[in-house]
Amino acid sequence: DHGYGPDIDHVLLSEAQIRDKIAEVAEQVAVDYAGKEVLLVGVLKGAVLFMSDFARALQLPTQMEFMAVSSYGSATSSSGVVRILKDLDRDITGKHVLVLEDIIDSGLTLSWLLKNLGGRSPASLEVCALLRKPDAVKVEVPVKYIGFDIPNEFVVGYGLDYAERYRDLPYIATLKPSVYT
Ligand code: PRP
Ligand code: MN
Ligand code: MG
Repeated sequence: DHGYGPDIDHVLLSEAQIRDKIAEVAEQVAVDYAGKEVLLVGVLKGAVLFMSDFARALQLPTQMEFMAVSSYGSATSSSGVVRILKDLDRDITGKHVLVLEDIIDSGLTLSWLLKNLGGRSPASLEVCALLRKPDAVKVEVPVKYIGFDIPNEFVVGYGLDYAERYRDLPYIATLKPSVYT
């Protein structure tokens, strides 16, 4: 557990659960995009581990692009005003774009991103998110592929951070309250 053991409260999703779900979603995506080349757009930094495993599970030729965005305002809740820290390196006109996100919390980041990418004339634009917190959603985001709906509690691991830590955990877990104090 990378030495994080004492900080972990409970494991919400194990490595095996994540792996099986990714295989299942990738199979569906492969059917839906058969004969097409998919451009995966990963949202840095949270989606990095998910993207890496998803691309390997997906039995289709894919290309990879990354975008980094940041919400203005408080660190704990997204304001919906988003700034591009790193844009795509290439034009996506005519491409089949599949945005990969680790988690949809309020939905504000993704809602903004979809509007932004939608304005660049992709052939198609869909979202694949590993996690979603239905009880936290402020803006409904049209998500075609979803791994798990999870309770509205703070989770880390498998790309998700608390103050930039815990991204390297291979599973998804909650933290002990003492970590936050
Ligand atoms: C997290 C997460 C999603 C976003 C979800 O990213 O990875 O991208 O917040 O929140 P929302 O639905 O309320 O907008 P964060 O901004 O923490 O950056 P990171 O991916 O670099 O950790
Ligand atoms: Mn993120
Ligand atoms: Mg974060």
